Order: sequence, then structure tokens, then C-alpha cells
Amino acid sequence: MTHSRAVQIDAFGGPEVLRLVDVTVGDPGPGEVRIRHHAIGLNFIDVYHRTGLYPLALPARLGMEGAGVVEAVGDGVTHLAVGDRVAYAAQPPGSYCDVRVMPAMNVCRLPDAISFEEGAAMMLKGLTAQYLLKHCRPVEGLQPGDYVLFHAAAGGVGLIACQWARALGLRLIGTAGTDEKCALAHANGAEHCINYRRENFVERVKAITGGQGVKVVYDSVGKDTWEGSLDCLAPFGLMVSFGNASGPVPPFAPGILGPKGSLYVTRQTLFTHITSRERTQAMADDLFAVVTGGQVKIHVEQRFALADVQAAHRALEARQTTGSTVLLP
Ligand SMILES: NC(=O)c1ccc[n+]([C@@H]2O[C@H](COP(=O)([O-])OP(=O)(O)OC[C@H]3O[C@@H](n4cnc5c(N)ncnc54)[C@H](OP(=O)(O)O)[C@@H]3O)[C@@H](O)[C@H]2O)c1
Repeated sequence: MTHSRAVQIDAFGGPEVLRLVDVTVGDPGPGEVRIRHHAIGLNFIDVYHRTGLYPLALPARLGMEGAGVVEAVGDGVTHLAVGDRVAYAAQPPGSYCDVRVMPAMNVCRLPDAISFEEGAAMMLKGLTAQYLLKHCRPVEGLQPGDYVLFHAAAGGVGLIACQWARALGLRLIGTAGTDEKCALAHANGAEHCINYRRENFVERVKAITGGQGVKVVYDSVGKDTWEGSLDCLAPFGLMVSFGNASGPVPPFAPGILGPKGSLYVTRQTLFTHITSRERTQAMADDLFAVVTGGQVKIHVEQRFALADVQAAHRALEARQTTGSTVLLP
């Protein structure tokens, strides 16, 4: 038996419900590994789990992303060995801890050139950027030179998507909540970045695209941007809803999509994309290639001790962070 600290919630609520508990960790069962974390990724989904927007059975552990070293390997796990440096985005939640036992399926070996902090900062966010840009395509396809709109472009997923979109030749228009964040998104590949707290992003997108609109909107802000996002799309454009940082999108009538240009709408989650070991590894290899190749730099902009997890959640929800945030055990 190994001892570990773990972050647990006994009720849904604000950051104050996050508390450190001492737990014992056993040996991995079939298909599992035991990992000692060197860094843990903070994600907005952790906020949804904490508040109960995405309900978990209580008491619950939090955290979906981490990087560390494999300490023990269960029966049937062939792609990992004791001592491997690894990183993951995975169910079930529980990465906010020193050591854990978890399913091995989504755990990937980390290239030597990628640090633990980068690994913990990039798996959930980078695999999300990967599927958004490579698998969420409009019916007419996406070609280099096409415009797309990406909200919260200076955030964790956002900064990775800006750089990757530039590498793919896409003309990414970003949005962000301050001029400083806009400058950061711009420096990382957004061709334009609109401060959507100060400017009408629909009018700006129309002006930038010569009235044509964009082929895809990637919207993780949700409630506050939903309607405007639909109005930014070109005919047959694709609305990719993938988050709710400002609150969930309210119910809507599909009939509105016709007059707006026969639009397509999808609601995506990473966890549909990583249901097999092969698919997870293929997506991770694609991500590792752009990171080690220098097209995408992982911005670890905030670091908190694991014990300061409440402060980390407050900063993320208060829109005070840029890029990725890691918790250090
Ligand atoms: N479906 C999936 O597969 C999937 C996977 C990963 C992430 N996501 C979603 O993608 C989004 C980004 O995740 P992340 O972890 O990288 O977070 P993040 O982008 O680093 O942080 C969220 C950002 O959302 C913006 N925002 C706009 N309105 C907000 C509000 N009312 N309250 C708080 N933030 C607001 C803020 O940027 P500004 O100040 O610039 O507006 C904030 O920094 C989240 O919505 C997350 O749930 C979805």
C-alpha cells in the first residue's frame, strides 16, 4: 500500500468544497497502471465537476489530466512498463493527487523532449484541439486560407488551437476577454483577435471576412456567445459547441438554423474520440509531433501547489489565467 494526498469533494459548490484527504493506493488490477504524478493539469471541466454541472457520484475525486512515472503495471497492459514517463487525459476523474491507480488505455508514453509540466498541461487540451481541427470539419471541408472563429483563444485549449490552426494554414479569428489576452492569441497564430467584452464580435467577424462569415465556429464559452456565433457562420457553416465557461447553452429551436444559412450544429466531447487505445495513441502522436516539431508551444502560464487547488480554481473561473495551469504535487 502507498499513501497519497487526493483532492476530494463531498458536496457540489464553490472552490471551498475542494479538500485534501489522505488515501491509500493499492496495486493496479488488470488493464490498470499506478502512476506517481510530477504535474497535474487544471481544466475547466474540473469546475463543471465541482459545481455539479456535470454531476459525479459523491464523494468524488477531481482531475482528468496528469503526467508522471509508471510505478506498477497490471496484467494485460502491454504498451507501458515500470519507469516510463507518461501523460494522459482520461476518465475517471482523480488526477488531483500524488499517486493513483487508473485504466492504462488513455495513458501515453511521453517523448523525452516534452517535460512533465508540458505533458500535464497539454494532453486534455491538446487532444481536444486535435479533434476539433482535424475531425470536426464542415461538409464542404476546410482548406488552407479558410476562416474559422475560435472563442477564448488565449485559454488552455485556445492557445494550442491558435498555433495548430496556423500550422494547418487556417485563418483563425480569436476572441478573448482583455486586450492583453488578444495580443497573446495574436502572437500565437490568431490572424485577428477580438476583445469580445469591448467589441461586437459578430460585426467584427463580418468585417474581417468581407461579409462572408466563417466556415466553422469553435465555441466553448456557451451561453454568452451561442447566438452571436451562429450569426458569424457562412452558409452551410458548422457550429462546434464544446463547452460552457459562461453557462450552458439554453434549449433552441432547430428551425432557426435554416434562415441563418442551413447551418450544422454539433456538441462534441473529447471522451467520444478516445474510446480505444489505438485512436488515443494516434491522436497523441499527432499532438506530440507538432509539439516536438516546434509548431505548437505549450504555455504553462500558472503553477499552483496541489494544496492550493482552491486558489487555482478561483483564478480559472475569474478569467485570470492564460494558456495552461498545472498543479504540482
Ligand atoms: N468538449 C470537450 O471535449 C472539451 C475539452 C476540453 C475543454 N473544453 C472546454 O473548452 C473550454 C476551455 O477549456 P480550458 O480548460 O482550456 O479553459 P480556459 O480556456 O483556459 O479558460 C476558460 C476561458 O473561458 C473564457 N470565458 C468566457 N466567459 C467566461 C465566464 N463567464 N467565466 C469564465 N470564463 C469565461 C475566459 O477567457 P476570456 O477571459 O478570454 O473570455 C476563460 O479564461 C472550456 O469551456 C472547457 O469546458 C471542452
